[in-house]
Amino acid sequence: MALAVVAGPADARVAVDEAGRVFRLDGAQVTYAFGVDEKGYLQPLYWGGALDPAAPLQARATRELSGFDPAGMQTAQEYAGQGEGLVTDPGLKVAFADGSRDLVLKYRSYRLEGETLAIELADIARPLVVTLRYAIDEQTGIVTRTATVTNRGRQPVRIEAFAAANLTLPGASSYQLHFLSGRHAAEWTPHAVPLSPALTVLESRRGSVGHGNQPWLALTRPGQTTEEAGPVWFGALAWSGSFRLSAQTDNIGRVRVAAGYNSHDFVWSLKPGESLESPRFYAGYSHAGLGGASRTFHRFQMERLIPGGAAAALRPVLYNSWEATAFDVTAEGQMKLAERAAKLGVERFVVDDGWFGQRNDDKAGLGDWTVNPRKFPQGLKPLIDKVHALGMSFGLWFEPEMVNRDSALYRAHPDWVLNFPGRPRTEGRNQLVLNLARTDVRDYLLGVLDKLLRENDIQFIKWDYNRNWTEPGWPEAGPDQQRVYVDYVRNLYFILAELRRRHPGLEIETCSGGGGRIDTGIMALTDQAWTSDNTDPFDRLAIQDGFSLAYAPAIMMAWVTDVPNWANGRTTSLDFRFLSAMQGGLGIGADLNKWTAGDEDTARRWITAYKGIRATVQRGQLYRLVRPTEGAAQTATLYVAPDRAQAVLFAMQRGSQWRDQWEPLRLAGLDPAATYAVRVLGGGALPEGVPARASGAWWQNQGLTLRLRGDYVGLGLVFEAAK
Ligand code: GLA
Repeated sequence: MALAVVAGPADARVAVDEAGRVFRLDGAQVTYAFGVDEKGYLQPLYWGGALDPAAPLQARATRELSGFDPAGMQTAQEYAGQGEGLVTDPGLKVAFADGSRDLVLKYRSYRLEGETLAIELADIARPLVVTLRYAIDEQTGIVTRTATVTNRGRQPVRIEAFAAANLTLPGASSYQLHFLSGRHAAEWTPHAVPLSPALTVLESRRGSVGHGNQPWLALTRPGQTTEEAGPVWFGALAWSGSFRLSAQTDNIGRVRVAAGYNSHDFVWSLKPGESLESPRFYAGYSHAGLGGASRTFHRFQMERLIPGGAAAALRPVLYNSWEATAFDVTAEGQMKLAERAAKLGVERFVVDDGWFGQRNDDKAGLGDWTVNPRKFPQGLKPLIDKVHALGMSFGLWFEPEMVNRDSALYRAHPDWVLNFPGRPRTEGRNQLVLNLARTDVRDYLLGVLDKLLRENDIQFIKWDYNRNWTEPGWPEAGPDQQRVYVDYVRNLYFILAELRRRHPGLEIETCSGGGGRIDTGIMALTDQAWTSDNTDPFDRLAIQDGFSLAYAPAIMMAWVTDVPNWANGRTTSLDFRFLSAMQGGLGIGADLNKWTAGDEDTARRWITAYKGIRATVQRGQLYRLVRPTEGAAQTATLYVAPDRAQAVLFAMQRGSQWRDQWEPLRLAGLDPAATYAVRVLGGGALPEGVPARASGAWWQNQGLTLRLRGDYVGLGLVFEAAK
């Protein structure tokens, strides 16, 4: 094929064969291609491992399969309009002003916008245009896709479903669908189900991402794909509101995926001349199993998504007061905790809920973002100064989008919450959701937060969100009020971006009762994520494993808290708690006033050890050597630094029985020719049978055999390459 146009940096390119009307994106051992057939449909042609430039890619018109399966339905379309009998999920479904609901999108033109390929599709008869945009990342081969629909007609068009992307994979005997779901304090449970003609929908109808399904999926081939080998196609929608990802096999076994705004309760009136843009959808491929897929996506997140990218600061060790003091925060109490935290080596001190308004429990005060004068008689300044003098940065908790009925804000603006007039305003944790889609609410919140940040020397915000929507009404918007699902999230992104712009250096954590609002959209505007309110170190191993399928340990916060754990009453050693929490961004959430001198020594030792490996944990390649599947007695994770000079192994044991020893743990990702010396993380003698040094080849092929004694015990081993 003649590649007429080439754009992009050396290792990634967009190529267009104008004669054959084929479009190719190539990057990092991945090829993604689509083309126009004789009838003008844009068809997916290929997505997988890199193809050679001369690969004979060509779109050909699809015939009807039978009278029941017409050509329009049989044609796999790169982005399908709902029309012509389509029976799989479309990219776009509309109703025109005259009631027509037939939309057939065909290829019109392409253009290059820098390194982005823009493809214009249009309906065969009406002036409705869809622009698809594609860019491929040269490091990871991840394709970023968006769709924009534009009404070039004279009448409004009703949009009833709008996706960022459709995806198709070739027919095969079987595919497996992987996804993540959960609930409060039990997020990130991995699921793997056979993909079938039964449509599987991963969605949120909650206005926010929620703790249920994640806007992420992966597709694998049973019998071919394992944790470390075989094909994986994965995708994630960058959207922190109601979303919908659907997948099924079609009548000839092809995978059909649609990903975009949730069409449930969604209508958007597109006026003449207006456009609506979809969120971004990231699509990636790996031939190195689920492990390879997550390492690829982690790298993309770290280098392309998180603020600062590869230059972003490592997560500081933080202290958070929530589990220690709950709402009972006072200047004096927090100062005492800060002194104790600083002595342990903590680098950031965060005051959680309870510092503002009349907030003494969860029944009052939300919305009133003024410092409580009884708890902080001289404002926050003395505490902030103290925290800074102790060498730590200062962070503060907010839940800006919420309001208690018992608050000055709600008394002044009862109309500011999501509601349907005359209907109940259902509360969750005694709170209502402010309608951030309203410009006045958006500007008010931005003003309040901006003022607090201007008046106080604050380095970090924990941005919480402790319920989802119930009555999603926006009465002032009349018939257009379902825009709330989009406008709300856009305004949230606007505030986050604007705060960052006005306060360079400010860091933000996304939190929603734990991990209820984590996705690749909010990731671009926040520096870290609160993974779960469940801080039990054993439950956390499963939570962190699930999280890591989709998202990078670079943003995954984990705390060491007190025992028995609030979530399940389990008591574990401080060592075990540290070893579990060190596998992401380390924090401490315990009541330090109760810690003995011995506890403090232990904590100091672990925090020092963590600082020596955190670059590897937060920026390295993660290998899930033994995964915590249901009831697993042993799990192991390995983090390898990008330059392979250091690797850290965490071996965690739930329980001992029968003097069992572990199966050999074979490491991965090391330089086979380099010699690695091994030491115990946090100090102590090497376990019996583990040599003090050996080559990367040895550790990867022979591996090591551990025998840990006791229940809820763990071991960290650090491998350093000889210089
Ligand atoms: C949520 C968060 C917790 C804590 C509380 C405060 O549950 O996830 O970490 O901040 O709110 O009310």
